[in-house]
Amino acid sequence: MEKYIVKGGRPLYGEVNIQSAKNSVLPLLAASVLTDEKVIIHRCPRIADVLNMVQILGELGCKTSFQGDSLVIDSADAANHEIPSALAKELRSSVFMLGSVIARFGRARIAYPGGCDIGLRPIDLHLSGLRRLGVQITEDGGYIDCTVEKTVGADILLDCPSVGATENIILAAVKGKGRTVIRNAAKEPEIADLQNFLNRMGAKVSGAGSATVIVEGVGKLHGAEYTPIPDRIEAGTFLIAAAMCGGELLVKNALSENLAALLHKLREISCKIHAENDKIYISSKRRLSPKLIETSPYPGFPTDLQAPATALACICEGSTVVVENLFETRFKHVPELLRMGADITVRGRSAFIRGVPALHGADVYAGDLRGGAALTLAAIAAEGESTVSDLYHIDRGYTDFEQKLRGAGADIRRIRV
Ligand code: UD1
Repeated sequence: MEKYIVKGGRPLYGEVNIQSAKNSVLPLLAASVLTDEKVIIHRCPRIADVLNMVQILGELGCKTSFQGDSLVIDSADAANHEIPSALAKELRSSVFMLGSVIARFGRARIAYPGGCDIGLRPIDLHLSGLRRLGVQITEDGGYIDCTVEKTVGADILLDCPSVGATENIILAAVKGKGRTVIRNAAKEPEIADLQNFLNRMGAKVSGAGSATVIVEGVGKLHGAEYTPIPDRIEAGTFLIAAAMCGGELLVKNALSENLAALLHKLREISCKIHAENDKIYISSKRRLSPKLIETSPYPGFPTDLQAPATALACICEGSTVVVENLFETRFKHVPELLRMGADITVRGRSAFIRGVPALHGADVYAGDLRGGAALTLAAIAAEGESTVSDLYHIDRGYTDFEQKLRGAGADIRRIRV
């Protein structure tokens, strides 16, 4: 077990460099089994979720190796269509393998996926979408078994714009017969990134980033090299860190157009933001309350930044209501923030926050990935010493998190206990 020891209260100054987007890389890795030629993902972050996905690829018979920060995947000898339960339970994105494994082998067997415990997280839209493409699905004993000779294009309307379901259907349809139209598709930038990657492999996907995605099936895909988009959630985490600690931070390899909802809120609370090309500069002195933060699908305020934004609201002047619309139980960071002196009441999917002048140090536990990041930000902004335990949650999505914070002046170190 590892934990952070943090001495809080220091402003942040300097620069941080943002990794490639976790939520782009994971579906890209799933997509790599769609070809028997080599795929190279540049700037691939070695976060735990990626390493788990690499293990899943290994189980399927793919050869993978890191060359510097590029991940090389050779799926020529992939032969296995079963994803073992231990790995599937490690991360939610194992479910993306369903679409691509079906497309490659005509069958797939996978245990129900795990991932952050932030709500029910059903996969009914994934399964009904795949059924519409002609996939036969049986579920028994916690496993999902899929078979299809070749997927057949269909017109699919999603009940809600699920990121994962949109991506899974694209992956299953890309080498199928005919045309698939996905309506009410999720619009997240990572879906456009998947489209761009697939098209570089020879696919014909269009419309990603809008509510209607069109996939024209092609017979074969070839190898490709690709650099995924920067991680908007990691960039957002550091911007919120600077807003909480004060100081001036230059966040490099960050696309402001993918962070519009957060930047709007940060400007509203009186942070100075300057965005140019792939850099975002922030300076923060005084923080007014953001009043209302309501998560919604892209381009709305991202649920993955709700926990850091909640931590920020704790030390803003005035009251804030945070409404979590996507996941049912995504407030596990709140009891930990209370230990640090925050004033928060949770009712259902809403958190009512009355800002306090400062948080104080405490021993807190990361309950999930983004909640863990939020508590780390609270600790570096708080007065006094804190520990943040259960870092394996944070390691799922951030590389060198504490080194990057330390580089900007935070007093944080990791110890093994
Ligand atoms: C993805 C992101 C995750 C982010 C989330 C919402 C990845 C690897 N993960 O997760 O970081 O928090 O988008 O932006 O990209 N739903 C159903 N049935 C389904 C699927 C989803 O009801 O079959 C519901 C979910 O319960 C949730 C909503 O749809 O309320 C959105 O979930 P979804 O977009 O699917 O999230 P993920 O793809 O799991």
